[in-house]
Amino acid sequence: MMKLLIVMLLFVNICYSEPAKPTPIVLWHGMGDTCCFPYSLGHLTEYLKMKIPGVYVNSLKIGESTMEEMENSFFMSPNKQIEYACDVISNDPRLKDGFNAIGFSQGSQFLRALIQRCGHKIGAVKNLISMGGQHQGVYGLPHCGALQRESCDYARKLLNYAAYYSWVQKALVQATYWHDPLNEELYKVHSEFLSDVNNEVSINKTYIDNLSNLEHFVMVKFENDTMVQPKETEWFSFYEPGQAKKIITLQESDIYLQDRLGLKKMDEAGKLVFLSQPGDHLRFTEKWFFEKIMKPYLL
Ligand SMILES: *[C@@H]1O[C@H](CO)[C@@H](O)[C@H](O)[C@H]1NC(C)=O
Ligand SMILES: *[C@@H]1O[C@H](CO)[C@@H](O)[C@H](O)[C@H]1NC(C)=O
Ligand SMILES: *[C@@H]1O[C@H](CO)[C@@H](O)[C@H](O)[C@H]1NC(C)=O
Repeated sequence: MMKLLIVMLLFVNICYSEPAKPTPIVLWHGMGDTCCFPYSLGHLTEYLKMKIPGVYVNSLKIGESTMEEMENSFFMSPNKQIEYACDVISNDPRLKDGFNAIGFSQGSQFLRALIQRCGHKIGAVKNLISMGGQHQGVYGLPHCGALQRESCDYARKLLNYAAYYSWVQKALVQATYWHDPLNEELYKVHSEFLSDVNNEVSINKTYIDNLSNLEHFVMVKFENDTMVQPKETEWFSFYEPGQAKKIITLQESDIYLQDRLGLKKMDEAGKLVFLSQPGDHLRFTEKWFFEKIMKPYLL
């Protein structure tokens, strides 16, 4: 009798168990963009929902209005943006069991920072996909595409003359990941965001632990990127210190050799994925996205 009951219970359980829900997805847009523009992440959100039926997508909205969101992407300190996103995600019940994260341009390094700093408050992040992110910062802002021309021109002027002034660090997002290879010490000491997130000054073990929990950290580099300088930063590479011509790979850099961020161990465990894609910044086709990103990491 007991046996029969157990068998019946098992049976009932099998019949009524819900179909597995697809892993939710969090998106973080780039500079001058918003959560939902129909030609940008709004479109991608629809595409994801179409290809992964039932998937929950939270495209992070940093600000109350479209205008505020675009302005915040230039003027709201990344440290504050990350706290804001940490709040949004930790209060979203649909994300509590974990999610995949896709960052676009600067949204990529912000998502990485979010994982490193806020990992104890949010569900586990499975895969972090970085689309043209600037993980070693930038040394140059050639242009910002068609978006927000005035803010962009203003940003470029400030960066070229005063990136490490304290008020600029506080006032301009892009200054916080400005990385001057001729002045590594200035960068390490004065960058209010990136040098901390990259464990350049001191080593925060929480950052290492949380980043290492990822299944994969996928970095997509756009081979003909004219917006990001140098484009190799999209693969966590940068200029060799002391000059601004020769690029060294991540594997040749101190951050890796000293394993300051756990990237060496992640690499050895096969968790770092380097993809490259011909074309300019963030240019990709749905077919490419489906084959290279969705199939291996999101489905
Ligand atoms: C390391 O990072 C965590 C998460 O952001 C933070 O709570 C902690 O204070 C940091 N530790 C140090 C020594 O800065
Ligand atoms: C993040 O790191 C902290 C401290 O090591 C740990 O307690 C926490 O479980 C980690 N969270 C995730 C999601 O990895
Ligand atoms: C794009 O970059 C690749 C790799 O650097 C190069 O081989 C190719 O010629 C470039 N294409 C264009 C159109 O510039």
